[in-house]
Amino acid sequence: MDALLAGLASVRENYCKKKKLDAALRKKFLSCLYSFYDSNYRHLPWRTTDNPYHILVSEIMLQQTQVARVIEKYKEFIKKFPTLEVLAESSLHDVLAVWQGLGYNRRAKYLWECAKTIVAQHNGKIPDNPKELALLPGIGKATAASVSIFAFGKPAVYIETNVRTVYIYSFFDTHQKVSDAMLVPLLQATIDTTNPKRFYNALMDCGTYIKQQYNYTRHSTQYRAQTPYHTSLRKVRGDIVRYLVRNGATHKDILLQNLHVSPERIEQALDALCAEHMICEEKNIYTIPTK
Ligand code: ADE
Repeated sequence: MDALLAGLASVRENYCKKKKLDAALRKKFLSCLYSFYDSNYRHLPWRTTDNPYHILVSEIMLQQTQVARVIEKYKEFIKKFPTLEVLAESSLHDVLAVWQGLGYNRRAKYLWECAKTIVAQHNGKIPDNPKELALLPGIGKATAASVSIFAFGKPAVYIETNVRTVYIYSFFDTHQKVSDAMLVPLLQATIDTTNPKRFYNALMDCGTYIKQQYNYTRHSTQYRAQTPYHTSLRKVRGDIVRYLVRNGATHKDILLQNLHVSPERIEQALDALCAEHMICEEKNIYTIPTK
């Protein structure tokens, strides 16, 4: 067993025996995280910037998407839309064109709407606290916390899959089912307020590493088995958006001919996309807004 896993297993043994997280145990927990981090630090492009807009882009991309898939898209996106103002003035079509390949297109629309809202209502400045961030389009509690940490160094409580993995591995017996509410006091007691950004980066790297060896996420009550993508409505929606990005305005009959799915499924996906204003329709011709 290597040093990180052995160190954190010993934290767990001690904690489960004493049911108490004292200063010495907290110190040991942090020293396990940081000694792993200092020698296994991942060089990720969003780690070398202090630009809150670039961090907002990365955090939205990282929702439900693995780091390896985000890296190149992040660079491409920042190149095409270098500032919040440039993004706010771009069309949804251009934003979705760059987003293709990342999945969950709604995130792209939310990011674009965030840029517009921040320019219109916040003088172009991204709010630094989780409460205000969570009022922006598509920003949930977790992303609000992560942006306040990574962009502004605030010591917010941020729970996502890597954080869950580290805390469940370090503080719970393997048979326990663990809810996020059970993790909050442990996070509050251990968070390194002297450098929240480094602390959470270390959690990201340690969590990713632990997950390669042990699937502790199954002990989380948040765990959901993924539904198959190839038969999902999400895939039909994604196929329609990709088709319209590439081909421009398209009649419904052409979509029915070119997307190999039942007409009912296509209708269902088109209706949902129109209702969300991801696409628009006039006389059975569909487009992605170019203004
Ligand atoms: N997942 C969510 N935010 C992340 C980050 N900043 N680095 C790595 N993985 C993440």
